[in-house]
Amino acid sequence: MLRARITGTGSAVPEHVLTNYDLEKLVDTNDEWITTRTGIKERRIAAAGEYTSTFATLAARRALAMAGISPEELDLIILGTVTPDFPFPATACIVQHELGAKHAVAFDLSAACSGFIYGLNMAEAQIRSGMAKKVLVLGAEVLSRVVDFSDRNTCILFGDGSGAVVLEADNGDRGILSTHIFSNGSHWGLLYQPGPGSRNPASVAATIDDKLYYLRMEGNDVFKHAVRAMGDAAVAALEANQIHADQLALLIPHQANRRIIEATGKRIGLPEEKVFVNLHKYGNTSSASIPIALDEANHEGRLKSGDLVLLDAFGGGFTYGSALIKW
Ligand code: COA
Repeated sequence: MLRARITGTGSAVPEHVLTNYDLEKLVDTNDEWITTRTGIKERRIAAAGEYTSTFATLAARRALAMAGISPEELDLIILGTVTPDFPFPATACIVQHELGAKHAVAFDLSAACSGFIYGLNMAEAQIRSGMAKKVLVLGAEVLSRVVDFSDRNTCILFGDGSGAVVLEADNGDRGILSTHIFSNGSHWGLLYQPGPGSRNPASVAATIDDKLYYLRMEGNDVFKHAVRAMGDAAVAALEANQIHADQLALLIPHQANRRIIEATGKRIGLPEEKVFVNLHKYGNTSSASIPIALDEANHEGRLKSGDLVLLDAFGGGFTYGSALIKW
């Protein structure tokens, strides 16, 4: 059976580190509060002249190098982001150009923090149907450009970076076993960026005066939805594949909040050591969080051939989903 197998991973984050202690100087907060409520200690922040495509291109080059394929071999580039370089064209097209992937179709995908899982789902469908053979899927964000660094409720949470994977058609039994993606638009207003867009164009003064360009979030409500949805997505993957959590080698969840991650692990009965966590270093990098974590787990030797690895995400929209991979 034709499967989509991950043959390369890569990631790239900005050099600049913003610690909880740095944030203490910007807003009324402290390291102890941030650490106990979120698990985050520091995050990376893009410098002037660095964009979403900067990190995406670098992550892509690293994933391609690991896969040992050239950019010209790519059929498709899917880039999940809510902080593109421009409203249009797609940041994926800029990455395509930077890589010289001239045979690839390239588009962005907007599913907030679930963007990477949604991208895997699209890539898997293309590969299984025979429409594409080699696909690059990325998550890439520069959230620091849409975060209000005077709002302590949100500015402590987010960071910048990108992760990428190369997927190739494979006739073996390794690769993506299933993807499950879900949307629930009834709560879109709990986590969103009001402008600029067709509702609040940048050409209207109120968009600037009312700071509608900053991300807005009802943290408490989002937290409750995230716990339930990530648990549901994980259970969907296990049930569809008729496996029990103790058969999993690793859960790589979206890195939003340590307490959400712990609740997800508990829901499926997975011990802590089988749950990958790196949010203390990067905060929530939205669509980039899972592919960055996957790349780190790969480099740390935590993914062995044949291992069952579960990816699990939740984000604005709401969107959520999971992917079960036989590594
Ligand atoms: N430092 C210190 N105090 C802060 C603070 C900060 N950075 N941010 C908020 N507080 C205060 C609040 O003002 C509130 O004070 P009050 O009781 O005097 O009103 C108190 O801490 C508790 O706030 P609350 O919002 O109830 O805290 P919480 O335990 O829900 O934690 C979040 C807040 C944001 C960490 C948590 O809700 C969360 O992680 N939500 C999910 C966010 C998320 O993951 N979003 C992306 C999903 S993909």
